[in-house]
Amino acid sequence: MNALYSLLAVLALVLAGFACGQGAPARMVLATFVPYAAFAALLIGFCWRVARWAFVPVPFHIPVTCGQQKSLVWIRFAKIDNPSTRWGVVSRMAAEILLFRSLFRNNRARLSGGRLILGESASLWLCSLAFHWTLLLIMLRHLRLFLEPVPAFVNALERLDGYFQIGVPPLYFSDVILVSAMTFLLFRRFRDPALRYLSLFSDYFALFLLLAIAVTGILMRYFTRVDILSVKQFALGLAAFRPGASQALSALFLCHLLLVCALAAYLPFSKLMHMSGVFLSPTRNLANNSRSQRHINPWNAPVKTHAYVEWEEEFRDKMQAAGIPLEIENETEDAGNARTN
Ligand code: HEM
Repeated sequence: MNALYSLLAVLALVLAGFACGQGAPARMVLATFVPYAAFAALLIGFCWRVARWAFVPVPFHIPVTCGQQKSLVWIRFAKIDNPSTRWGVVSRMAAEILLFRSLFRNNRARLSGGRLILGESASLWLCSLAFHWTLLLIMLRHLRLFLEPVPAFVNALERLDGYFQIGVPPLYFSDVILVSAMTFLLFRRFRDPALRYLSLFSDYFALFLLLAIAVTGILMRYFTRVDILSVKQFALGLAAFRPGASQALSALFLCHLLLVCALAAYLPFSKLMHMSGVFLSPTRNLANNSRSQRHINPWNAPVKTHAYVEWEEEFRDKMQAAGIPLEIENETEDAGNARTN
């Protein structure tokens, strides 16, 4: 049901995009107002979420990690899995962000003939990595629409991506990999009953939305051929705060645009915020040096203590009268006995 509802929500956005392409007022609103509203929601929402995380007190280093912690010199410790220095933390973060290292360790557990079998599960890691890297590549390539002159690195990325010059216009490998990886991620949720049970509307919605953006983009590039000059004019106008809705912008492009705006506005309120959350995760960004350094909670309010010795001193008479043994007296007596012996 969650999958169906999210698919319907994305289809509604697609239809709204096409509908906006039909009438001049709707086209105007979509091309001038919606992108700014979506960008403002993205900017404000993103800063708000990050600020909320950043202000959560993290007084202690949290040693929730794999690998041996640094302790005695003759015990080899895991420098990257369980770092004790800042550079160790930087390496761990880099491996996490660039290579999804913790996902690589993901295991699969299944029952076979009453036996629990644990196995490697590299497919999720591989497809997630492929999906994220190609998405980044596509977004970097899109800079050619927003920048004039187009930076050399964007041209280089384009040449690399279409290296084998298959078809006209040349097929980008990133498009093929992105769509294949997303299809795998989607079907993985359908196929596995446990995962299907755990999947929420938001899990499917993000995937369907990204897939719809990719499909409309691919249709524009390889099948219906968008007027790229008008798109560039429009994009440069948006970036320079001089928006305009040219008649040359096709309904398919407006649909692509509306889907991208929906993604931008939705992103700060969704699980896609893991892109910034990973940087603020205390189990990843703190060195595990709690054996070599004492961490004192700086927010601890001074506490008035009342030790047992003071307590006994206060109630000494009453305790003696009641025949309750006294520790300090006993100690003095013990010391006296020891001396006599
Ligand atoms: C999350 C952001 C976006 C994603 C994931 C995305 C994805 C894609 C994909 C996969 C394609 C297929 C061709 C290619 O890979 O270049 C494409 C094409 C295209 N996209 Fe996007 N897009 C995004 C944002 C935008 C924005 C903001 C604009 C314009 C304002 C835009 C305009 C276009 C155009 C004009 C094409 C056709 C390019 C061509 O014919 O070579 N896209 N998009």
